[in-house]
Amino acid sequence: MHSTTLIVASALAAVAKAGSWLVQHDYAHHNFFDMFDFYDGADPTNGFVDYVDSATANTSALTEITPQNQIYIGVDHTSTITSTGRPSVRLNSTASYSSGLVILDLEHFPGGICGTWPAFWMFGPEWPQHGEIDILEGVNAQSANQMTLHTANGCQISSTHGAMAGTVSSTDCYAYADGNTGCAVHDDSTSTYSGFNANKGGVFATQIDPVNQVIQIWFFDRSNIPADIAAGTPTMESWGMPRAHFGGCDVETHFSDLTIVFDNTFCGDWAGNSWSSDSTCASKADSCDDYVANNPSAFKDAYWLINSLKVYHTSPYARNARPVRLSA
Ligand SMILES: *[C@@H]1O[C@H](CO)[C@@H](O)[C@H](O)[C@H]1NC(C)=O
Ligand SMILES: *[C@@H]1O[C@H](CO)[C@@H](O)[C@H](O)[C@H]1NC(C)=O
Repeated sequence: MHSTTLIVASALAAVAKAGSWLVQHDYAHHNFFDMFDFYDGADPTNGFVDYVDSATANTSALTEITPQNQIYIGVDHTSTITSTGRPSVRLNSTASYSSGLVILDLEHFPGGICGTWPAFWMFGPEWPQHGEIDILEGVNAQSANQMTLHTANGCQISSTHGAMAGTVSSTDCYAYADGNTGCAVHDDSTSTYSGFNANKGGVFATQIDPVNQVIQIWFFDRSNIPADIAAGTPTMESWGMPRAHFGGCDVETHFSDLTIVFDNTFCGDWAGNSWSSDSTCASKADSCDDYVANNPSAFKDAYWLINSLKVYHTSPYARNARPVRLSA
Protein backbone atom coordinates (compact mmCIF):
# COMPACT_ATOMS: atom_id res chain seq x y z
CA MET A 1 0.00 0.00 0.00
CA HIS A 2 2.93 2.26 0.48
CA SER A 3 3.26 2.93 -3.25
CA THR A 4 -0.46 3.75 -3.54
CA THR A 5 -0.05 6.35 -0.82
CA LEU A 6 2.78 8.00 -2.71
CA ILE A 7 0.83 8.07 -5.95
CA VAL A 8 -2.18 9.73 -4.31
CA ALA A 9 -0.01 12.26 -2.52
CA SER A 10 1.87 13.24 -5.66
CA ALA A 11 -1.34 13.46 -7.68
CA LEU A 12 -2.72 15.90 -5.11
CA ALA A 13 0.51 17.88 -5.19
CA ALA A 14 0.19 18.21 -8.96
CA VAL A 15 -3.36 19.53 -8.60
CA ALA A 16 -2.27 21.94 -5.90
CA LYS A 17 0.61 23.27 -7.96
CA ALA A 18 -1.37 23.76 -11.14
CA GLY A 19 -4.20 25.47 -9.30
CA SER A 20 -2.18 27.22 -6.63
CA TRP A 21 -3.30 30.76 -7.43
CA LEU A 22 -6.76 31.57 -8.69
CA VAL A 23 -7.93 35.01 -9.76
CA GLN A 24 -10.03 36.48 -6.98
CA HIS A 25 -10.51 39.93 -8.50
CA ASP A 26 -9.62 41.16 -11.96
CA TYR A 27 -9.51 44.97 -12.00
CA ALA A 28 -10.01 44.95 -15.75
CA HIS A 29 -10.39 48.11 -17.82
CA HIS A 30 -14.13 47.70 -18.32
CA ASN A 31 -14.87 47.72 -14.59
CA PHE A 32 -11.71 49.22 -13.06
CA PHE A 33 -13.18 52.51 -11.82
CA ASP A 34 -16.26 50.75 -10.45
CA MET A 35 -14.04 48.67 -8.19
CA PHE A 36 -12.57 51.72 -6.44
CA ASP A 37 -13.89 54.65 -4.48
CA PHE A 38 -12.60 58.07 -5.41
CA TYR A 39 -11.38 59.45 -2.11
CA ASP A 40 -12.09 63.17 -2.18
CA GLY A 41 -11.40 64.19 1.40
CA ALA A 42 -8.45 66.16 2.70
CA ASP A 43 -5.06 64.55 2.14
CA PRO A 44 -4.10 62.80 5.40
CA THR A 45 -0.45 63.54 4.53
CA ASN A 46 -1.07 67.31 4.19
CA GLY A 47 -0.23 67.53 0.52
CA PHE A 48 -0.80 70.48 -1.83
CA VAL A 49 -3.49 68.46 -3.58
CA ASP A 50 -7.19 68.56 -4.37
CA TYR A 51 -8.48 65.00 -4.63
CA VAL A 52 -11.48 65.05 -6.96
CA ASP A 53 -14.57 62.83 -7.09
CA SER A 54 -15.27 60.41 -9.92
CA ALA A 55 -17.53 62.74 -11.93
CA THR A 56 -14.93 65.52 -11.84
CA ALA A 57 -12.14 63.10 -12.70
CA ASN A 58 -14.10 61.92 -15.70
CA THR A 59 -15.17 65.31 -17.06
CA SER A 60 -11.73 66.86 -16.57
CA ALA A 61 -10.00 63.82 -18.11
CA LEU A 62 -8.00 62.95 -15.01
CA THR A 63 -9.19 59.36 -15.49
CA GLU A 64 -9.59 57.59 -18.81
CA ILE A 65 -9.57 54.23 -20.47
CA THR A 66 -7.20 54.53 -23.43
CA PRO A 67 -7.96 53.12 -26.89
CA GLN A 68 -5.51 50.30 -25.99
CA ASN A 69 -7.66 49.50 -22.92
CA GLN A 70 -5.08 50.80 -20.48
CA ILE A 71 -6.18 52.60 -17.35
CA TYR A 72 -4.98 56.22 -17.16
CA ILE A 73 -5.00 58.14 -13.87
CA GLY A 74 -3.50 61.61 -14.14
CA VAL A 75 -3.45 65.07 -12.58
CA ASP A 76 -4.31 68.56 -13.73
CA HIS A 77 -1.39 69.76 -15.86
CA THR A 78 -2.87 72.86 -17.43
CA SER A 79 -3.90 75.17 -14.56
CA THR A 80 -1.94 77.50 -12.36
CA ILE A 81 -3.21 76.82 -8.85
CA THR A 82 -4.23 79.58 -6.48
CA SER A 83 -6.31 77.48 -4.09
CA THR A 84 -5.63 74.54 -1.83
CA GLY A 85 -3.87 72.24 -4.23
CA ARG A 86 -3.42 70.67 -7.66
CA PRO A 87 -6.31 68.40 -8.75
CA SER A 88 -5.39 64.72 -8.55
CA VAL A 89 -6.99 61.33 -7.90
CA ARG A 90 -6.79 58.96 -4.96
CA LEU A 91 -8.45 55.59 -5.44
CA ASN A 92 -9.16 53.03 -2.73
CA SER A 93 -10.47 49.59 -3.61
CA THR A 94 -13.90 48.61 -2.35
CA ALA A 95 -12.59 45.07 -1.74
CA SER A 96 -10.09 44.35 1.02
CA TYR A 97 -7.60 41.56 1.57
CA SER A 98 -5.87 39.78 4.45
CA SER A 99 -3.83 37.43 2.27
CA GLY A 100 -3.13 36.74 -1.38
CA LEU A 101 -1.02 37.82 -4.30
CA VAL A 102 -1.49 41.25 -5.88
CA ILE A 103 -0.04 41.57 -9.36
CA LEU A 104 0.16 44.99 -11.01
CA ASP A 105 1.39 45.41 -14.57
CA LEU A 106 2.25 49.11 -14.70
CA GLU A 107 3.55 50.83 -17.81
CA HIS A 108 4.00 54.35 -16.46
CA PHE A 109 3.83 56.04 -13.06
CA PRO A 110 3.90 59.65 -11.78
CA GLY A 111 7.31 59.45 -10.08
CA GLY A 112 10.61 61.21 -10.51
CA ILE A 113 9.03 64.66 -11.00
CA CYS A 114 9.81 67.42 -8.51
CA GLY A 115 6.86 67.98 -6.19
CA THR A 116 5.25 64.56 -6.70
CA TRP A 117 4.68 61.85 -4.10
CA PRO A 118 3.03 58.91 -5.84
CA ALA A 119 2.20 55.66 -4.10
CA PHE A 120 0.75 52.27 -4.91
CA TRP A 121 -0.01 50.79 -1.51
CA MET A 122 -2.40 48.93 0.75
CA PHE A 123 -3.75 49.73 4.18
CA GLY A 124 -6.38 48.52 6.64
CA PRO A 125 -8.94 50.25 8.87
CA GLU A 126 -8.10 52.05 12.13
CA TRP A 127 -4.61 52.87 10.93
CA PRO A 128 -2.09 51.60 11.94
CA GLN A 129 -3.99 48.76 13.64
CA HIS A 130 -4.48 46.68 10.48
CA GLY A 131 -1.22 47.61 8.84
CA GLU A 132 0.08 49.37 5.76
CA ILE A 133 2.18 48.01 2.89
CA ASP A 134 3.86 50.56 0.62
CA ILE A 135 4.74 48.74 -2.57
CA LEU A 136 5.85 51.58 -4.84
CA GLU A 137 6.50 54.95 -3.33
CA GLY A 138 8.85 57.87 -3.48
CA VAL A 139 9.15 61.64 -3.76
CA ASN A 140 10.67 64.32 -5.96
CA ALA A 141 13.77 63.31 -7.94
CA GLN A 142 14.35 60.11 -5.96
CA SER A 143 16.12 57.43 -8.01
CA ALA A 144 14.97 54.07 -6.60
CA ASN A 145 11.88 52.63 -4.94
CA GLN A 146 11.37 52.26 -1.21
CA MET A 147 9.10 49.48 0.10
CA THR A 148 7.83 50.01 3.64
CA LEU A 149 5.51 48.53 6.26
CA HIS A 150 3.77 50.55 8.96
CA THR A 151 2.02 48.76 11.82
CA ALA A 152 0.84 48.87 15.39
CA ASN A 153 3.44 48.23 18.07
CA GLY A 154 5.20 44.86 18.10
CA CYS A 155 6.15 44.20 14.48
CA GLN A 156 9.87 44.04 13.77
CA ILE A 157 11.46 42.66 10.65
CA SER A 158 14.74 40.81 10.41
CA SER A 159 17.21 41.61 7.64
CA THR A 160 18.29 37.96 7.59
CA HIS A 161 14.89 36.21 7.62
CA GLY A 162 14.97 35.54 3.88
CA ALA A 163 17.00 36.42 0.81
CA MET A 164 16.14 39.67 -0.95
CA ALA A 165 17.63 41.98 -3.55
CA GLY A 166 16.87 45.16 -1.62
CA THR A 167 18.54 46.54 1.49
CA VAL A 168 16.82 46.84 4.86
CA SER A 169 17.22 50.37 6.17
CA SER A 170 15.03 50.18 9.29
CA THR A 171 13.51 47.23 11.14
CA ASP A 172 10.81 48.61 13.47
CA CYS A 173 7.50 48.78 11.63
CA TYR A 174 5.70 50.58 14.48
CA ALA A 175 4.05 53.69 13.05
CA TYR A 176 4.54 55.75 16.21
CA ALA A 177 8.29 55.15 16.47
CA ASP A 178 10.97 57.20 14.70
CA GLY A 179 8.49 59.65 13.14
CA ASN A 180 6.65 56.89 11.24
CA THR A 181 9.74 55.75 9.35
CA GLY A 182 8.36 52.22 9.38
CA CYS A 183 10.40 49.20 8.43
CA ALA A 184 11.83 49.88 5.01
CA VAL A 185 13.65 48.11 2.22
CA HIS A 186 15.46 50.20 -0.38
CA ASP A 187 15.76 48.93 -3.89
CA ASP A 188 19.01 49.88 -5.57
CA SER A 189 17.82 49.69 -9.16
CA THR A 190 16.73 52.90 -10.87
CA SER A 191 14.41 50.79 -13.05
CA THR A 192 12.05 50.73 -10.04
CA TYR A 193 11.76 54.52 -9.94
CA SER A 194 13.62 57.17 -11.94
CA GLY A 195 14.15 54.83 -14.89
CA PHE A 196 10.76 53.18 -14.63
CA ASN A 197 8.90 55.06 -17.36
CA ALA A 198 11.74 54.94 -19.90
CA ASN A 199 11.61 51.12 -19.63
CA LYS A 200 7.81 51.07 -19.96
CA GLY A 201 7.68 49.99 -16.34
CA GLY A 202 7.12 46.40 -15.36
CA VAL A 203 5.30 44.15 -12.92
CA PHE A 204 5.04 44.38 -9.13
CA ALA A 205 3.93 41.19 -7.38
CA THR A 206 3.11 41.44 -3.68
CA GLN A 207 2.41 38.37 -1.58
CA ILE A 208 0.73 38.65 1.81
CA ASP A 209 1.21 35.31 3.54
CA PRO A 210 -0.25 35.06 7.05
CA VAL A 211 0.47 31.30 7.14
CA ASN A 212 4.23 31.61 6.69
CA GLN A 213 4.22 35.10 8.25
CA VAL A 214 5.90 36.93 5.39
CA ILE A 215 5.18 39.78 3.01
CA GLN A 216 7.23 39.70 -0.17
CA ILE A 217 7.49 42.10 -3.09
CA TRP A 218 8.91 41.19 -6.48
CA PHE A 219 9.57 43.58 -9.37
CA PHE A 220 10.19 42.53 -12.95
CA ASP A 221 11.34 44.90 -15.68
CA ARG A 222 9.16 44.91 -18.76
CA SER A 223 11.74 42.80 -20.62
CA ASN A 224 11.91 40.18 -17.82
CA ILE A 225 8.30 39.48 -16.93
CA PRO A 226 7.95 35.76 -16.16
CA ALA A 227 5.84 33.90 -18.70
CA ASP A 228 3.65 32.44 -15.94
CA ILE A 229 2.64 35.97 -14.87
CA ALA A 230 1.88 36.99 -18.43
CA ALA A 231 -0.19 33.82 -18.78
CA GLY A 232 -2.17 34.55 -15.60
CA THR A 233 -0.86 31.45 -13.82
CA PRO A 234 1.66 32.85 -11.36
CA THR A 235 4.17 30.35 -9.93
CA MET A 236 6.30 32.33 -7.53
CA GLU A 237 8.59 29.35 -6.87
CA SER A 238 10.28 30.17 -10.18
CA TRP A 239 10.67 33.91 -9.70
CA GLY A 240 13.92 34.04 -7.79
CA MET A 241 14.69 36.54 -5.07
CA PRO A 242 12.09 39.16 -4.21
CA ARG A 243 13.11 42.82 -3.99
CA ALA A 244 11.78 42.87 -0.43
CA HIS A 245 11.24 40.03 2.03
CA PHE A 246 9.56 41.25 5.20
CA GLY A 247 9.87 38.42 7.72
CA GLY A 248 10.08 38.12 11.47
CA CYS A 249 6.79 39.92 12.18
CA ASP A 250 3.48 38.25 13.00
CA VAL A 251 1.81 39.12 9.69
CA GLU A 252 -1.52 37.54 10.63
CA THR A 253 -1.86 39.82 13.67
CA HIS A 254 -0.60 43.02 12.08
CA PHE A 255 -2.08 42.94 8.56
CA SER A 256 -5.74 42.48 7.65
CA ASP A 257 -8.57 43.97 5.59
CA LEU A 258 -6.16 45.91 3.38
CA THR A 259 -7.57 48.01 0.56
CA ILE A 260 -5.52 48.80 -2.53
CA VAL A 261 -4.71 52.47 -3.09
CA PHE A 262 -3.30 54.49 -5.98
CA ASP A 263 -2.62 58.11 -5.27
CA ASN A 264 -0.43 60.97 -6.31
CA THR A 265 -0.16 63.81 -3.88
CA PHE A 266 2.14 66.84 -4.04
CA CYS A 267 4.52 68.17 -1.39
CA GLY A 268 3.14 67.60 2.12
CA ASP A 269 4.72 65.53 4.87
CA TRP A 270 7.33 63.83 2.71
CA ALA A 271 7.82 65.53 -0.69
CA GLY A 272 7.38 68.98 0.83
CA ASN A 273 9.46 68.41 3.94
CA SER A 274 12.34 66.96 1.92
CA TRP A 275 12.20 69.60 -0.87
CA SER A 276 15.18 71.59 0.36
CA SER A 277 17.35 68.49 0.71
CA ASP A 278 16.68 67.40 -2.89
CA SER A 279 19.24 69.45 -4.83
CA THR A 280 17.59 68.84 -8.21
CA CYS A 281 14.24 70.14 -7.00
CA ALA A 282 15.35 72.82 -4.55
CA SER A 283 17.04 74.70 -7.40
CA LYS A 284 13.71 75.01 -9.25
CA ALA A 285 11.73 76.97 -6.65
CA ASP A 286 11.92 78.19 -3.07
CA SER A 287 9.21 75.87 -1.91
CA CYS A 288 7.52 72.72 -3.12
CA ASP A 289 4.06 74.34 -3.04
CA ASP A 290 5.30 77.27 -5.17
CA TYR A 291 6.69 74.91 -7.76
CA VAL A 292 3.58 72.73 -7.94
CA ALA A 293 1.22 75.72 -8.07
CA ASN A 294 3.03 77.60 -10.83
CA ASN A 295 4.38 74.95 -13.21
CA PRO A 296 1.40 72.99 -14.55
CA SER A 297 3.22 71.62 -17.60
CA ALA A 298 5.77 69.93 -15.32
CA PHE A 299 3.00 67.48 -14.39
CA LYS A 300 1.94 66.31 -17.84
CA ASP A 301 3.79 63.04 -17.21
CA ALA A 302 2.53 62.63 -13.65
CA TYR A 303 0.18 59.80 -14.52
CA TRP A 304 -0.39 56.13 -13.86
CA LEU A 305 -0.88 53.87 -16.87
CA ILE A 306 -2.01 50.44 -15.76
CA ASN A 307 -2.03 47.45 -18.08
CA SER A 308 -3.61 45.09 -15.56
CA LEU A 309 -4.24 44.55 -11.87
CA LYS A 310 -5.26 41.16 -10.55
CA VAL A 311 -5.53 39.77 -7.05
CA TYR A 312 -4.97 36.04 -6.74
CA HIS A 313 -5.92 33.74 -3.92
CA THR A 314 -4.70 30.26 -3.09
CA SER A 315 -7.04 27.54 -4.26
CA PRO A 316 -8.77 25.26 -1.75
CA TYR A 317 -6.50 22.48 -3.03
CA ALA A 318 -3.37 24.31 -2.05
CA ARG A 319 -4.71 25.55 1.24
CA ASN A 320 -5.96 22.18 2.38
CA ALA A 321 -3.13 20.19 0.88
CA ARG A 322 -1.94 17.69 3.45
CA PRO A 323 -0.21 14.37 2.94
CA VAL A 324 -3.16 12.03 2.44
CA ARG A 325 -2.80 8.49 3.73
CA LEU A 326 -5.03 5.68 2.58
CA SER A 327 -5.70 3.06 5.16
CA ALA A 328 -3.53 -0.03 4.64
C1 LIG B 1 -12.39 55.20 0.37
O1 LIG B 1 -12.92 56.37 -0.21
C2 LIG B 1 -14.23 56.70 0.19
C3 LIG B 1 -14.66 57.92 -0.62
O2 LIG B 1 -13.94 59.07 -0.26
C4 LIG B 1 -14.30 56.93 1.68
O3 LIG B 1 -15.62 57.15 2.08
C5 LIG B 1 -13.74 55.72 2.40
O4 LIG B 1 -13.66 55.99 3.78
C6 LIG B 1 -12.38 55.36 1.88
N1 LIG B 1 -11.91 54.16 2.52
C7 LIG B 1 -10.68 54.07 2.95
C8 LIG B 1 -10.33 52.75 3.54
O5 LIG B 1 -9.89 54.99 2.88
C1 LIG C 1 -16.78 58.90 -18.30
O1 LIG C 1 -18.15 59.09 -18.45
C2 LIG C 1 -18.66 58.62 -19.67
C3 LIG C 1 -20.11 59.04 -19.76
O2 LIG C 1 -20.83 58.58 -18.65
C4 LIG C 1 -18.48 57.12 -19.73
O3 LIG C 1 -18.94 56.61 -20.95
C5 LIG C 1 -17.02 56.79 -19.59
O4 LIG C 1 -16.87 55.41 -19.51
C6 LIG C 1 -16.47 57.42 -18.34
N1 LIG C 1 -15.06 57.20 -18.33
C7 LIG C 1 -14.46 56.65 -17.28
C8 LIG C 1 -13.01 56.45 -17.42
O5 LIG C 1 -15.05 56.36 -16.26
